[in-house]
Amino acid sequence: MKILITGAAGFIGFHLSRNLLKFKKNKIYGIDNFDEYYSIKLKKKRIELLKKEKNFHFQKIDITSTKLSNYLKNKNFDIIIHLAAQAGVRYSMVNPEKYLNTNILGFANLFENIEDKNLKKVIYASSSSVYGDTKTFPTNEKCIKNPKNIYGYSKVINEKMSNYYSKRLKVPFIGLRFFTVYGVWGRPDMFILKVLKTHSKKKYFYLNNKGNHLRDFTSINDVVKILTQILNKKTKKNNIYNICSNRPLLINNVLAQIEKKVGKIKIKNVNRNSADVLNTHGDNKKILKEANSFKLSNFTEELDKIIDWFQGIKNKNYF
Ligand SMILES: NC(=O)c1ccc[n+]([C@@H]2O[C@H](COP(=O)([O-])OP(=O)(O)OC[C@H]3O[C@@H](n4cnc5c(N)ncnc54)[C@H](O)[C@@H]3O)[C@@H](O)[C@H]2O)c1
Repeated sequence: MKILITGAAGFIGFHLSRNLLKFKKNKIYGIDNFDEYYSIKLKKKRIELLKKEKNFHFQKIDITSTKLSNYLKNKNFDIIIHLAAQAGVRYSMVNPEKYLNTNILGFANLFENIEDKNLKKVIYASSSSVYGDTKTFPTNEKCIKNPKNIYGYSKVINEKMSNYYSKRLKVPFIGLRFFTVYGVWGRPDMFILKVLKTHSKKKYFYLNNKGNHLRDFTSINDVVKILTQILNKKTKKNNIYNICSNRPLLINNVLAQIEKKVGKIKIKNVNRNSADVLNTHGDNKKILKEANSFKLSNFTEELDKIIDWFQGIKNKNYF
């Protein structure tokens, strides 16, 4: 299968590509612009690892650029997995334009230029941010969408746009609302790696809301398993799924678990960030019904692996 993965140098794109490359039938075409939102070194390292596989082909390209149409010409992809985006909720308060450009115009530019005759399915990243500060827990896919920030709005708009492009391209579009994905080679702007990074530099960690908020941490291993199954499943219908563990954890408890392994973390308490929602807790019944049953990862075991992996990396400049 010829698969296009946008955002291949990103956290989820890297892990997904790595897993799909284990199957010899897959040829992965990764694109990414090495955006500078977080460490370019880390993104380049991920691509260096992927390039060890002969079935991985990479092109540095911006999804908003006019060059994209040339790249896409005559590629005839079977599947498109669109993960490239400006991620992160807090940065959307600082630079909303970037979210509008990358997430909305980039989405349109990509699908306006798709002419593949073999295309069977599109999978694209949405986010738990579409729900905003909901009071309905566990939050299921039917709950009202009420984003708190431009990032969340950009994902709501993507979900709407997918209906249009699905009709136009005559293929199903599957939207995945990811909830706080964590794992090795993860994002340095997200909680676990941010704590490990500041601790290794002996700096203070700025803790929002005294750590009294819940996050539905979802292992990258589970995300990859689910994505691989969705990719291989025959479907004619557009759909949207929560990708979550349905096991919300209090940030303070996660912090305590990290401290058990790395020692006391220097904390400075700061007010809750206005872009953040208080709690996330997704309902994963819909996706678990679709995916063949498997045991969700154990958070404590996965956290241990991340800490061991982080401590084993000599070059902390990646972060
Ligand atoms: N990781 C999570 O917890 C999480 C949660 C909800 C939603 N998501 C969504 O899942 C997707 C993947 O997230 P991730 O965690 O891997 O993020 P990431 O930032 O690690 O990956 C996104 C990749 O897209 C690339 N990119 C950004 N702008 C681009 C452009 N204009 N052209 C080409 N490439 C561009 C970046 O360089 C990056 O490598 C994103 O759409 C994100 O919004 C992630």
